[in-house]
Amino acid sequence: MAQSVRPCYAAAAFGLEGLVADELKRIGMQDVRAENGGVRFSADPADIFRCNLLSRFSDRMFMILAEGDCRTFEDLFQLVSGVSWETLADGTEAFNISAKCVRSQLMSPRDCQAVTKKALLERLKKKTRRNIFPEKGADFPVQVSLRNDHTLVLLNTSGASLSRRGYRTWNGEAPLRETLAAALVALSPWRPGLPLHDPCCGTGTIPIEAALMQQNRAPGRSRSFAMESFAFSASAGLEAVRRSCTKAERAPQEGLLSGSDLDPEPLELARRHLRQAGLSGVVSFECLPLQQLSLPQERGVMICNPPYGERLENQNSCRQLYRDLGLLKARHPGWSLCAITSDPAFERFFGKRADKKRRLYNGRLECTYYIYR
Ligand SMILES: C[S@@+](CC[C@H](N)C(=O)[O-])C[C@H]1O[C@@H](n2cnc3c(N)ncnc32)[C@H](O)[C@@H]1O
Repeated sequence: MAQSVRPCYAAAAFGLEGLVADELKRIGMQDVRAENGGVRFSADPADIFRCNLLSRFSDRMFMILAEGDCRTFEDLFQLVSGVSWETLADGTEAFNISAKCVRSQLMSPRDCQAVTKKALLERLKKKTRRNIFPEKGADFPVQVSLRNDHTLVLLNTSGASLSRRGYRTWNGEAPLRETLAAALVALSPWRPGLPLHDPCCGTGTIPIEAALMQQNRAPGRSRSFAMESFAFSASAGLEAVRRSCTKAERAPQEGLLSGSDLDPEPLELARRHLRQAGLSGVVSFECLPLQQLSLPQERGVMICNPPYGERLENQNSCRQLYRDLGLLKARHPGWSLCAITSDPAFERFFGKRADKKRRLYNGRLECTYYIYR
């Protein structure tokens, strides 16, 4: 049973659900359906592992173990007891239960966690005829999610968020999540083979994600996933899946991807991240204010995540920076420019209406992605 095709769920930031759905279809998943905050699909363990390795835009991949409406703890206990845990776990695992409660009768995550754990252990006791579960083994992350009483019992197959590719071990002040950076690149007119420049690159996430795409590199190549330690994964052929996902890499193209920033400190991190991603030489970084930037190629795509000026004291300097971005675009008529910000006045200060706009979230912050072709 553990190896069979089952309903799965890819968590996505608001605004990225469509991108994640298209990506899952490209990876070859069936029954793909986007909904708010994520995408449902069907997969067996080998396929869900493939999604973990290949997804650039999703936050986590879950198996849906049970689903139903729960208004009382007894409802929740029954729902969790109905999962055949004995086919998923061998009893040595550390059962790590988390709960999220939104607009539901059951609003205490801590109590939902406790009830879930009790139901899980009681089922295992009954089915395995063992009484003691030392919980010292591999992490087995179960998530219970209640929204308007509708309850999903999920097994987190990714572990840490998929935005953790493994190359970023030090963060700058306002780094962009890798999944969002990859989405900004995918939603822009940039395609492998074109020049790309980030004029406010900070720790370099945007050009580094573009480099991974250019090489068709599996974003999860250098990290591990929770499901690799699950008992049922032993017979799922995950090593073969990993090998097949890393086979299709293209040779690096040098001289096309670059970033600049006026602050040398995040640039140090950008260079370090580049080395850790095994991409030294593929992206060049320069310490330069964008007001002095002059790009040598006639055509290309600039993508940036400038400061948003959320605090009033920073607003004026950020808006001056948006004016300077407008001037930068005017100096480079053959280049597209794409920028994400939460400031609704961006177009006014940039000096032009965007050709395309898209609502995205940077964490909890509602932003707009402006695309000037
Ligand atoms: C929100 S952060 C960018 C974070 C980046 N995307 C990352 O992944 O780390 C904004 C960046 O804009 C830079 N910046 C501000 N004013 C600038 C200017 N005039 N020229 C170039 N960079 C500037 C800041 O130094 C900061 O690193």
